[in-house]
Amino acid sequence: MADVPKDLLDQINKLEDLFIVDTQKLKEVTDQFVSELRRGLGQDDATIPMNPTWCMAFPDGNETGTFLALDMGGTNLRVCEVTLTEEKGEFDIIQSKYRMPEELKTGTADELWGYVADCLQQFIEYHHGDEKIEQLPLGFTFSYPATQNHIDHGILQRWTKGFDIDGVEGKDVVPPFEAALAERGLPIKLTALVNDTTGTMIASAYTDPLMRIGCIFGTGCNAAYMEDCGSIPKLAHMNLDPSLPMAINCEYGAFDNEHKVLPRTPYDIIIDKESPRPGQQAFEKMIAGLYLGEIFRLVLLDLHQSHDCEVFAGQDISKLQKAYSLDAGFLSAIEEDPFENLSETHDLMQNKLSISCTKPELELLRRLAELIGTRAARLSACGVAAICKHKGWETCHVGADGSVFNKYPHFKVRGAQALKEILDWPENKGKGKGDPIEILPAEDGSGVGAALIAALTLKRVQQGQNAGIRDPEAMKKAAELARKARPSK
Ligand code: BGC
Repeated sequence: MADVPKDLLDQINKLEDLFIVDTQKLKEVTDQFVSELRRGLGQDDATIPMNPTWCMAFPDGNETGTFLALDMGGTNLRVCEVTLTEEKGEFDIIQSKYRMPEELKTGTADELWGYVADCLQQFIEYHHGDEKIEQLPLGFTFSYPATQNHIDHGILQRWTKGFDIDGVEGKDVVPPFEAALAERGLPIKLTALVNDTTGTMIASAYTDPLMRIGCIFGTGCNAAYMEDCGSIPKLAHMNLDPSLPMAINCEYGAFDNEHKVLPRTPYDIIIDKESPRPGQQAFEKMIAGLYLGEIFRLVLLDLHQSHDCEVFAGQDISKLQKAYSLDAGFLSAIEEDPFENLSETHDLMQNKLSISCTKPELELLRRLAELIGTRAARLSACGVAAICKHKGWETCHVGADGSVFNKYPHFKVRGAQALKEILDWPENKGKGKGDPIEILPAEDGSGVGAALIAALTLKRVQQGQNAGIRDPEAMKKAAELARKARPSK
């Protein structure tokens, strides 16, 4: 950075002070995280909800049958038909993707459920034509915080990830969804409402017995892990066998909503204030893909307006003024620019924002992207470390999915390094591969994972283990029909 003038260097130093999270802070965050996870297991109104999901077993590889899986993600809606075959741990999958129109995210509940049901209908018509299907069990991946007293229902606690549809929060999402299916006469039985993290954990455990945690580092962030019922005081009144497993959807994007420990910057505060749900998802807003580009944009705007330095002086910055105009992919591209003169970053800024950058400005952009991306990876590690510390797990595998984990450069290495610092691993660890706790790319959670959870649910009902099943008789019938519905190959 020899050619960067003093005013910009000073700004870079200031940004480093704001965004660098040192080992000590990581440890402090993790310790607070552990106590918040525990609080969530004990009471209903804790900041981290620690939602019991009624997914009460890992797969053993012998699950069979044909299942639909629906994933209502932020950008796409995916429908899969998953056939778990007789061969242990194997499956066939067919799938279709549908665009999730941006307007739906802020539209009405009827429009949402109508659209989702239309996609399912198209899928069945396209893949099954006139074939007579009695009923297909469905694992519905609904990746928002939901209170579940049963596996086939879920009261939306609050929308996250920029969704803002009136009249859904505080209500069970299953009845209106089922009504939309019924209106279209679709032969589908919602068998399990699944969080993407639980699906990720279960899908990954299908092929890897060391899997203990499923994580998403994507548009949002969160994790699920397998608890034992005896360690969930808020379920004590149900007198469940304490040794029974229970997948917990932590919903830890909400960690530190009280702002006690996370090193928030003025930019994080603006993001929160201007979001549809201020005061919520404090942790997620600092690390998840939806927000990384926005943090970057806010810093640049601030620098442009500052009297202490010259950034984009004399240029038209109107495009930069548009909220959420930059996504995490923009930062990824800057971090990936292979050229010494950052010519790709120059072109990106020109093409996307019509801003022509000087070389020192490009250096600043690169450093800023690194700072934001590194902070996200390091803070993300605190959540994983906290679950492991809470459970006393010194070694295990963690299955991770999501656009940030899969596509953001260096995210995995930075996360592994942070885990090493938090957990005091020896010097030769913290590289990812071969670490005591390894975060690995997950199997398809919202396809295979959701199907497996539906299969495990039906298996449980057939064995008479009805805890967390809304209507065991109806579910038993579904299990019988599911077997009949399996297409002959
Ligand atoms: C949601 C979680 C989800 C995570 C990752 C968060 O915003 O609240 O339910 O698991 O995003 O998709």
